[in-house]
Amino acid sequence: MSSKGYACWLEYELASRAAKQAAREWGREIVMDESPQQGPLQTAVNELTIGLEAIIGQRPSIVKDSGQHRHIVVGTSRSPLVALMLTENELEGIGAEGYRIKTVHTTNREAIVLAGGSSKGCLYGVFHLLRLLLTGAALDCLDITEQPKYQLRMINHWDNMDGSIERGYAGRSFLFRNNEVLAGSQRIRDYARLMASIGINGIAINNVNVHKYETLLVTEPYLPLVAVVADVFREYGIRLFLSVNYASPLELGETTTADPLDESVAAWWKTTAENVYRYIPDFGGFVVKADSENRPGPFTYGRDHADGANMLAEALKPYGGLVMWRCFVYNCHQDWRDRLTDRARAAYDHFKPLDGRFMDNVVLQIKNGPMDFQVLEPVSPLFGAMERTNQIMEFQITQEYTGHQIDVCYLIPQWKEILEFDTYMKGKGSTIKEIAAGTVHPYVHCGITAVTNVGDDANWTGHHLAQANLYGYGRLIWNPELTAEEIINEWVLLTFGDNPDVAKTITDILMTSWPTYENYTAPLGVGWMVRPHLHYGVDVDGYEYSKWGTYHFADHTGIGVDRTIGTGTGYTGQYGKTNAELYEGLNTCPDKLLLFFHHVPYTHSLQTGKTVIQHIYDTHFAGVEQVEQWIVRWQELEGKMDAERFVHIAGRLDLQLDNAKQWRDVINTYFYRKSGIYDQGQRVIYV
Ligand code: GCU
Repeated sequence: MSSKGYACWLEYELASRAAKQAAREWGREIVMDESPQQGPLQTAVNELTIGLEAIIGQRPSIVKDSGQHRHIVVGTSRSPLVALMLTENELEGIGAEGYRIKTVHTTNREAIVLAGGSSKGCLYGVFHLLRLLLTGAALDCLDITEQPKYQLRMINHWDNMDGSIERGYAGRSFLFRNNEVLAGSQRIRDYARLMASIGINGIAINNVNVHKYETLLVTEPYLPLVAVVADVFREYGIRLFLSVNYASPLELGETTTADPLDESVAAWWKTTAENVYRYIPDFGGFVVKADSENRPGPFTYGRDHADGANMLAEALKPYGGLVMWRCFVYNCHQDWRDRLTDRARAAYDHFKPLDGRFMDNVVLQIKNGPMDFQVLEPVSPLFGAMERTNQIMEFQITQEYTGHQIDVCYLIPQWKEILEFDTYMKGKGSTIKEIAAGTVHPYVHCGITAVTNVGDDANWTGHHLAQANLYGYGRLIWNPELTAEEIINEWVLLTFGDNPDVAKTITDILMTSWPTYENYTAPLGVGWMVRPHLHYGVDVDGYEYSKWGTYHFADHTGIGVDRTIGTGTGYTGQYGKTNAELYEGLNTCPDKLLLFFHHVPYTHSLQTGKTVIQHIYDTHFAGVEQVEQWIVRWQELEGKMDAERFVHIAGRLDLQLDNAKQWRDVINTYFYRKSGIYDQGQRVIYV
């Protein structure tokens, strides 16, 4: 098995000549006056050493005082040396996870001073400094202060203990196999390193659907092994979380009920938490999928989500642990004949009335949209709607509905759009970006999490280009002001080196990939139309007569879901006034979400002046053409990059083209047959 791509964006061997030169000038000596034995500061120094050695070809020395004219000083803000180099003002307000990188010139010396607000800050600062080096920043005039925007910057694994990964498209799990924890593996350490390099500080290692063996993860036979993973994570500043089975004590035969108000249940969780913290003193907490898609929960006992979450929160509270309670709660046994029930409404209807009832170590985990990670859907109206309840936004890096890491779909533009969405909850500027940071409502705990896209494939993510989503996720939730292009520019340079043609083509492909995927799949925000369960490939009516609440209601006159207050399910009313009015009006609703909110005739004119049916035809032809153009562009890169990744990506693009054509032809044919309206362009439709 080849390992091309294993290092991802930490591929230091690709350093340009200029980067090597700069590293040689500055990086021969690392000066420190703190002597860490372990933990993130030690990791920071190791990482700087590894990085510089790979770039320079010689291991830098770690010294207490430098003999070199140019050198690097590393320390926390408590370091006397750092205090000598930077003023109190310059160190003020860095924050525990933040850092300052400044080039300091004295009469006969020049030093890049890296001061971390804590040891974790140093670690993040080191990765930043290496990035600066590799991307050719001018090192003689650095003056950077950084702090992460979000307090919780998490990753959720959907890994099962048998080694499978729910919605995983990059091989099997590297955390579990044959119902064992793969504790102590080098790969887990390499992974922690990659995650730390993009600022991740919490990882839930197992699937939210917690089955037989996973239920045992919080118990004795497994805890020592989980603790080994947590020990590695800790070195990289990452807290380990576990997804738990809400009904654990009942299913393990330790209680006769899982009623959250039953004392024996609460007592079991208290003892369990105590035990977990004996093994993992900085354990992050529990992720819980309860009363969702047939998973157990408090509803069985006539209790609500606050009762359930608070019972767990009580158990974790003494140790500073969190309960990440997921809001993906809806009726997955819906009758398609029932036009009144609207799955999109479910999370808000369930949780909004509970505002103020949750303990302050409960964080509601809310998917970015009201349905399920579609290529396009509106932002969940629940996010920000609860002033007195902590919230965390959940994105999906793994490409469940966006091409299975066969098709390229760069998701940063999608997440940026979501983060910039203004809820107007507290007037203009109440964006998701700010709500998740706790600056709109005073949340005690908040931030962003995402379902990851990694597995044991040599390159971690299946498609080499899907690494950009993982990298971009971390960078974006560290600093949501970065643009999607800035993130790609960094990533391409770090991952593929500095050939301008390679960089340009990859950037162009990535930047056009989300709209392209949207073009050839389900139109105008209506979503779904995918092959049931698999969620790759087209099946227009695959979910139309099913129990999942995911319908498009296409007939011979029109398509879309009427979610208006006036004549539909009333979902639009879950938004604040400004957005409710925007979506409610047929003429104000943005085209791209039209069919999510309205049922319209195929002849309805969009804001672009096109009819809905013509838009469907045009976008589906355009989507395929775009993929064809990418393939032409890609072929031009032959010989300009390593053959292995060139061939791999070329192969994936061919598969993507097949998929896009199938979508185009099925969708166009389906809607021609339904509507009887020809394509004005008279292109091929299989009538
Ligand atoms: C989707 C996905 C499931 C997953 C669920 C969840 O429905 O298809 O595999 O378990 O989301 O987020 O809980």
